Amino acid sequence: MFYPLLRPLLFKFAAETAHEHTLKMLDRAHRLRLTPLAAGRAVRHPLQVMGLNFPNPVGLAAGLDKNGAHIDALAALGFGFIEIGTVTPLPQDGNPKPRLFRLPEHEAIINRMGFNNDGVQALLANVGRSRFDGVLGINIGKNAITPLDRAVDDYLACLDQVYAAASYVAVNISSPNTKNLRQLQQGDELGRLLAALKQRQQALADLHGRYVPLAVKIAPDLDDEQIAEIARLLTEHAIDGVIATNTTLSRHEIAGHPLADEAGGLSGAPVRSRSTALIGKLAKELDGALPVIGVGGILSGQDAIEKLDAGASLVQLYSGLIYRGPELVGECARAVAQHLKARN
Ligand code: FNR
Repeated sequence: MFYPLLRPLLFKFAAETAHEHTLKMLDRAHRLRLTPLAAGRAVRHPLQVMGLNFPNPVGLAAGLDKNGAHIDALAALGFGFIEIGTVTPLPQDGNPKPRLFRLPEHEAIINRMGFNNDGVQALLANVGRSRFDGVLGINIGKNAITPLDRAVDDYLACLDQVYAAASYVAVNISSPNTKNLRQLQQGDELGRLLAALKQRQQALADLHGRYVPLAVKIAPDLDDEQIAEIARLLTEHAIDGVIATNTTLSRHEIAGHPLADEAGGLSGAPVRSRSTALIGKLAKELDGALPVIGVGGILSGQDAIEKLDAGASLVQLYSGLIYRGPELVGECARAVAQHLKARN
């Protein structure tokens, strides 16, 4: 309702400044109990995925609230689940600014943030202060200074610390902005990482008396052979879910744009069909062994439905919120709920 009026003003600021202003405004609006005005009434379409109960299938994707500092205000926008992070064991600054770019002509974003975050301890303190009692995903990664052959240590350190606070833990091996991170998606490396995570998850489940599902987040830039190999390994290691996809390195869809050569991951409308195609292939390879959470270029209710039709059980939004505002959450949740009712 308000966002179409607010957007031209926000777009006058540098993208990262606008991001910070928006989150501050959202927190203020939430304290004044005004968020339902911006977002409308939350849609209820309960469903169970990864053994968790979701009030509706539309979630917030990782990266928007890296430190979990705005959980309550974001949850009030009607999301069925919130994913915070990516968080790393130690705080780190990320890449030099500018590192976030809007491409309004394409309803797209390029980012090379590089896991700027306050570290896992600060994130846990924020989660502790939040009143949110819905599904909270915590997305974990590795510090830039950790060599790739020690990456497993960072993921295990994060898993140990976030386990008790998370509804599920998302393992991010697909950011293009941490050097060589995407190599962890390859056969041997992925097998070793998944084995270590699975073993630790079982130990933590015994320790805490609660099983917290693990979901692995993958890139859209994978060929058919890689998709098949990843599906096989996720199944073999009994991983609970897969989040597809992260941002793309491809510039095909924005060729000729003045910002096309900016380094980083591209998201929003240009990644939509690439992400949906990958979800389709992945779901076919998985054959129901584990659920897919579909993300990438959802800017309308119809886009969300396409992800479900490709094989996703849940969806997530990020760039669409920048272009369409909080109304997109309800629009997607309503569209998906209607679609699922008609399908079943
Ligand atoms: C992201 N994304 C992301 N993903 C992740 O797993 N960890 C992260 O820290 C971030 N950070 C991040 C920052 C910014 C500025 C953007 C735009 C995106 C990726 C995001 O969660 C999502 O997978 C992709 O952006 C594709 O979805 P959308 O944006 O097209 O809906």
